[in-house]
Amino acid sequence: MIPQSFIHDLLNRVNIIDTIDRHISLKKSGANYVACCPFHNEKTPSFMVSPTKQFYHCFGCGAHGNVISFLIEYSGLGFVDAVEELAASVGMQVPKQQSDAKASVRSPSNEQNENAVITVQDLLTVMRTATQFYREQLKHSEKAIAYLKERGLTGETAARFGIGYAPDDWNNLATLFADYKSEKTKETLIRAGLVISGEEGKQYDRFRDRIMFPILNQKGQIIAFGGRAIGQGEPKYLNSPETDLFVKGQEIYNLFSARKAIRDAGCIIVVEGYMDVVALSQYGIDYAVATLGTSTTGNHIQKLLRQSDKIVFCFDGDNAGKKAAWRALENSLAQLTDGKTIHFLFLPEGEDPDSYVRQNGKAMFEQQIAQSIPLSEFLLLELTRDLNLQASENRAKLIRDAKPLLQLIKAPALMLMLLKRLSGMCDLDQSELKTLLQIKHAAPARMQKHIPRKQPISPYHWLILLLLFNPGYYHALDQKLVMRSDDINEELALLKFLVEFLNTRPDIVNSASTVSVLTYFQDSPHKALLEKIESEILDLDDKMDLEAEFSGALKKLQEMQRKKRMSELHNKPLSLLTDDEKRELKRLATY
Ligand code: GTP
Ligand code: MN
Repeated sequence: MIPQSFIHDLLNRVNIIDTIDRHISLKKSGANYVACCPFHNEKTPSFMVSPTKQFYHCFGCGAHGNVISFLIEYSGLGFVDAVEELAASVGMQVPKQQSDAKASVRSPSNEQNENAVITVQDLLTVMRTATQFYREQLKHSEKAIAYLKERGLTGETAARFGIGYAPDDWNNLATLFADYKSEKTKETLIRAGLVISGEEGKQYDRFRDRIMFPILNQKGQIIAFGGRAIGQGEPKYLNSPETDLFVKGQEIYNLFSARKAIRDAGCIIVVEGYMDVVALSQYGIDYAVATLGTSTTGNHIQKLLRQSDKIVFCFDGDNAGKKAAWRALENSLAQLTDGKTIHFLFLPEGEDPDSYVRQNGKAMFEQQIAQSIPLSEFLLLELTRDLNLQASENRAKLIRDAKPLLQLIKAPALMLMLLKRLSGMCDLDQSELKTLLQIKHAAPARMQKHIPRKQPISPYHWLILLLLFNPGYYHALDQKLVMRSDDINEELALLKFLVEFLNTRPDIVNSASTVSVLTYFQDSPHKALLEKIESEILDLDDKMDLEAEFSGALKKLQEMQRKKRMSELHNKPLSLLTDDEKRELKRLATY
């Protein structure tokens, strides 16, 4: 626990420009500094750092935050480590609050902690502790070491991937966590997916006698494990369940660690298994990633295309591999833009990347990659497999099968190429083909992407934005009006949060200058929304009359409440209205 006041002082002391400039070189541009974004792959700079507002924002990928979030995202540090590094850079010492000493004796204050909320930080902490434990156990298990050796893994590779071993015991973690008896610790381990709470409240470790692969998110935090049985056990892989940290369909194994290699190679290889990723890396191919036993989703592909312009899916040459590849293709079509390419590589039957690279080495594997086929080829090959296109019926079938797939494509040039190829194959001209496929002109739609949409924003949104821009507006805020609002609306919930936060922070209010309050909302469910609105500060125009906007938003809020109350009263039968309510209605109506 680091006191909030310290973080506030720290943020006042460090300069985001100096800190970021130590990692990536910034160039001055007007009032701000710019660079190519370190969080996605780009050639022209859209990453901007503001010295006055002390935050960064990328107009390309939306990365946004203050100096602490930068260190977390860029260096993969945990929150505490990031704060410590920053403090050290300006010669400050991080004070520790008492709760850090994990008192194993139960004291009254410990009792109170029992019902404390479990935060994301708590979950991350137990995941880190467990990883260290499993790694340590690997060193002591002859059986696990022998297994990894037999699979050809070196100790160096295992260490690089943080691979560990969960001993064959039901209560490893109970022993590991000295304060395991505390309800909070137990609950945290259960919520992290490490401990299972069975019938009659019996608790036991999820992972036993398994090789443990830590799974990192894009910030480098350990959020889950894949546990492989040693030898023939069932199931072969046991993964962490979905938790507050881990959403399966979104995470990608090794994407965090592979970032630099991906940038250098200009390409990402997507394979099926953990062992494939690890083996490739041992042989010097560090830009491979894997989905976590699920098929490749559109979300995965979006994430991958943000990191690189080229993806190569590498699947086994068997039927299951073909199926997986086809599903990846279907989910890629809507994500493709011209300038991004997706290729498919099928290894010889019976081989997977792991076995292939072991037998043939890096150069041969990279040669295979170079010979992978583009998505458009794979699409046409599969659609025409076993079809004799001499027969018109088969050409009709081809068009019918192609239709739902082509309708997904948004990339104009790719669409045009495919139409050309298909029209040749089917002996139709392109306009006939387009009619049959019911494809509208694909091209211009994409062009609008960069024009910001001017949606009317709600008064809640305005109030949050303006309070963030200048906390001094807090004095002009009608708090009762805000607190009285009872819409079910995330913006309102965040606004209430923010007002309550400012109630406790006269220092921020009186500074009356933009500060990033994100740090104080690390564990808030509204963090994402806050991040989004904070980034909009950049769009505020000096020429706007912000005071008028602020009072305008308050008026609008008042008006919304008035209308709502009126319709409540109107919905009551007149005979049921009390005298007070009738007077209220009259007052509201003539307002
Ligand atoms: P090895 O068999 O040790 O070489 O592992 P692998 O990583 O090559 O696995 P494989 O190609 O058999 O499977 C690919 C991926 O599917 C694995 O890495 C897991 O993510 C997932 N997977 C495989 N078997 C299971 C299973 O039994 N349960 C679950 N949940 N996932 C599995
Ligand atoms: Mn394998």
